[in-house]
Amino acid sequence: MFDREVYIVRRNRLKSVLSDGIALFVGNVESPMNYPDNTYHWRQDSDFLYFFGIDLPGLTGMIDFNSGEECIFGNDVDVDDIIWMGPQPLMTDLAASAGVKHSLPLSKLTDYIEKALSGGRPVHFLPPYRAETKMTLGALLRENPCQMRTKASEKLIKAVVSLRSVKEDVEIAEIEKAANIACEMETTAMHMCKPGMTEQEIFGTIEGIAWARGGGPAFPTILSINGQTLHNHNHINTLGKGRMMVTDCGAESLLHYAADLTRTTPVGGQFTQKQREIYEIVLKANTESIKMAGPGISNLDLHLNACRIIASGLKDLGLMKGDVAGAVAEGAHALFMPHGLGHMMGLDVHDMESLGENYVGYNDEVKRSTQFGLRSLRFALPYKPGHVFTVEPGIYFIPELLAKWKAESKHPQFINYEKAESYLGFGGIRIEDDVLITAKGSRLLGKTAPKTVAEIEKVCLG
Ligand code: GLY
Ligand code: MN
Repeated sequence: MFDREVYIVRRNRLKSVLSDGIALFVGNVESPMNYPDNTYHWRQDSDFLYFFGIDLPGLTGMIDFNSGEECIFGNDVDVDDIIWMGPQPLMTDLAASAGVKHSLPLSKLTDYIEKALSGGRPVHFLPPYRAETKMTLGALLRENPCQMRTKASEKLIKAVVSLRSVKEDVEIAEIEKAANIACEMETTAMHMCKPGMTEQEIFGTIEGIAWARGGGPAFPTILSINGQTLHNHNHINTLGKGRMMVTDCGAESLLHYAADLTRTTPVGGQFTQKQREIYEIVLKANTESIKMAGPGISNLDLHLNACRIIASGLKDLGLMKGDVAGAVAEGAHALFMPHGLGHMMGLDVHDMESLGENYVGYNDEVKRSTQFGLRSLRFALPYKPGHVFTVEPGIYFIPELLAKWKAESKHPQFINYEKAESYLGFGGIRIEDDVLITAKGSRLLGKTAPKTVAEIEKVCLG
């Protein structure tokens, strides 16, 4: 974990925003996979990590905004546990490592909350996303566990979002470590992208790199020759010439900061003319967006600009037609790019998504669009120095979507359906980098994985 000062400062900042009641940060517990002792991969809750840093299950952090008191609730292990787990740090030492003076056994948490509730004190908590946490909160607060997400504290959500959105230097250094691991994953996937290789083999190899170099994958790796499926988690295909492989992968640093990169590689290492033409459009959308990113510009502006680059490139190829700005305003380009340009990244790969996307990426002035494509943009607000984002434009040929839009005669003034149908079987292309907003502009985080056509062909053939 970071130095205790980091956590003390963060909690003090939170205390300067909220002044009444107590906040509970319920850390994650082990979660059974197929029988109680065989658990899923352990991952601490990101908000618990942010404020208390301790990477162990079964802990709850508490901050009292009236008295300023802080406490970590958790149990010391006994000899029976040590036989299986080895010696473990004492709760009092764990609490001290996060700069927290008090620790109490978990059994005392119920009494503590009872007292707060009977005194009419607000108990703030963040929206739980795991069943175990919903159950714990439901039991403590005597509420229906299924309704705990809706009962979360809006004040606490907003305060946490404003703190976590702006990354500290120590966090940026962690994200950069993760991005370097992701770069190695991407480059390895490129080397392996040859006819006869299986997706499974490449997937296993690069997830192994995430474990060997850091804290494992930041999300389940998307690796497929069917790149037109945005989040394709099956890896059943054998690579054949003429196809492209989309590799959207990321690692966590050992302190659980994420990176998220995407590259698209032609199987065998050489793009066909048709692939290269589409690739260059996506690449331009990626590089121009990165150049344009900086304080004051909004992610919505960046997204729309990237969409115009895509629509304009597709118009040059005869896939779209008419006025480019009009096509993007109407959402016609979303046939080919149905997702948002990118998302915030930090302790979560989609940072703070569990707190509610609209709290992170929208506000009272900037409301989420309902238009297909644009509604998937996770963040629309102006950038601030310290924001970390992905920039991930793409072009996809999704047979089912194309058939649906054609049947509904959607945007006939902007889409050349006949030409688009000649790309069925093409797959998809996405190119993603991780970007830090600086005082004057932006910079890429981590080493840049090969990205231009020439760079990719060189790596693949080398
Ligand atoms: N890396 C997957 C995503 O951004 O949704
Ligand atoms: Mn992403």
